[in-house]
Amino acid sequence: MDKFIINGGRKLNGTVTISGAKNATLALIPAALLASGTFRLSNTPDLRDVATMSSLLRSMGMRIDLKDHVLTLDTTGVNKHVAPYEHVKKMRASIYVLGPLVARYGRAKVSLPGGCAWGPRPVNLHIEGIRKLGADVKLERGYIVAKATRLAGAQIHFDVSSVGATGNVLMAAVLAKGTSVIDNAAIEPEIEALSGFLVKMGAKIDGIGTNRLEIEGVDDLHPADIDTIPDRIEAGTFLVAAAITGGSVTLDRIKPEHLSALTAKLLDAGCTINVESSRMKLQAPSAIRPVDVTATIYPGFPTDMQAQWIALMSIAKGTSIVTDTIYLDRFKHVPEMIRLGADIEMKENAAVVRGVAQLTGAKVMSTDLRASASLILAGLVAEGTTEVLRIYHIDRGYEAMETKLQSVGADIQRVAGDEF
Ligand code: UD1
Repeated sequence: MDKFIINGGRKLNGTVTISGAKNATLALIPAALLASGTFRLSNTPDLRDVATMSSLLRSMGMRIDLKDHVLTLDTTGVNKHVAPYEHVKKMRASIYVLGPLVARYGRAKVSLPGGCAWGPRPVNLHIEGIRKLGADVKLERGYIVAKATRLAGAQIHFDVSSVGATGNVLMAAVLAKGTSVIDNAAIEPEIEALSGFLVKMGAKIDGIGTNRLEIEGVDDLHPADIDTIPDRIEAGTFLVAAAITGGSVTLDRIKPEHLSALTAKLLDAGCTINVESSRMKLQAPSAIRPVDVTATIYPGFPTDMQAQWIALMSIAKGTSIVTDTIYLDRFKHVPEMIRLGADIEMKENAAVVRGVAQLTGAKVMSTDLRASASLILAGLVAEGTTEVLRIYHIDRGYEAMETKLQSVGADIQRVAGDEF
């Protein structure tokens, strides 16, 4: 297993080009199941999760090729409708095939995802939504088994705003007979991107970008091409990298409006930010001010940036409180951060972070994608050497993380790890 060796203390300086959004891509690939033909997704990030989704869809008969960040999908040979446990346990987003499969082929068998590294992550809303559209859904031997002749439009109200359930039910509703309404739909940019792609394929969706989606089902859809939106979480992680190292970094190929909750907090922390169309430059202050954040649904502060914010607050001049209202247990990075000298106390779903003058390098363990990112950020500013073990988590969601960090002056190396 590879690990990162980081020698901390270098201010980052320069320009980083941000890749396409992982979470948009993971919805766009299964959406191609809804029509027969060839699709092209440009600005596709080269990530392990994208490879996992591709291999799942190849197992169903799709032909998939990624070259120069263009993902070409040929769906004409799709003839299997099963997402096996082996795939779903690697990546929960595999459940995105449920809606498209049942809508287009009338059947789907998708493994239940189970828990994840930081606690239970239910899929009840996905199942209830597909049932509301008229599918017969049963749970059999660890699998969701769904059948329908043709789905029928329905009123769906989500008790909780869920990115995945909104995407899944939306992909099912576009081919249902009649009108569907999804209330309390997620409004994350990745759902907007998915909606835009479906419209390009011939779907009829009103209210895109709002929490009420009205869908007029159509009989069939056709292939389309799309340029994937930039990854707002990768962008946010590099903004924090600049801030935590006292540096100055420009991000290229971003959508600044997708970052507004984070940039507001970075301004409060004392950073200077300049925005110019699809570029943003962050200049760190001489000292980071403590700033409380509460992770919540979009356009609030993203839970996928909560761990990185804790890393930044660990060297702030004072105490801050970082709360997560989406995933109450998503704090596996905290004990590792404490090993780097951070002063953090957990109070239920809130971390009380008392800024310290200096973090110190140590061996730490990645437990999940964003936790890994936070440990790398802490390593960039810690005195001495930090080893971040099990970085396969990072490869799930950040393309060429160490190469991009090296290009702005970080001392970070990937080495084949002898972990223990
Ligand atoms: C997506 C993102 C993930 C991000 C999360 C929240 C992808 C591939 N992943 O995950 O990076 O952290 O959004 O922004 O896009 N819930 C239920 N029942 C359900 C589904 C969800 O109760 O059936 C709850 C969850 O436990 C959680 C909340 O809804 O508390 C939001 O989760 P959700 O938006 O569904 O997250 P994902 O789509 O899994």
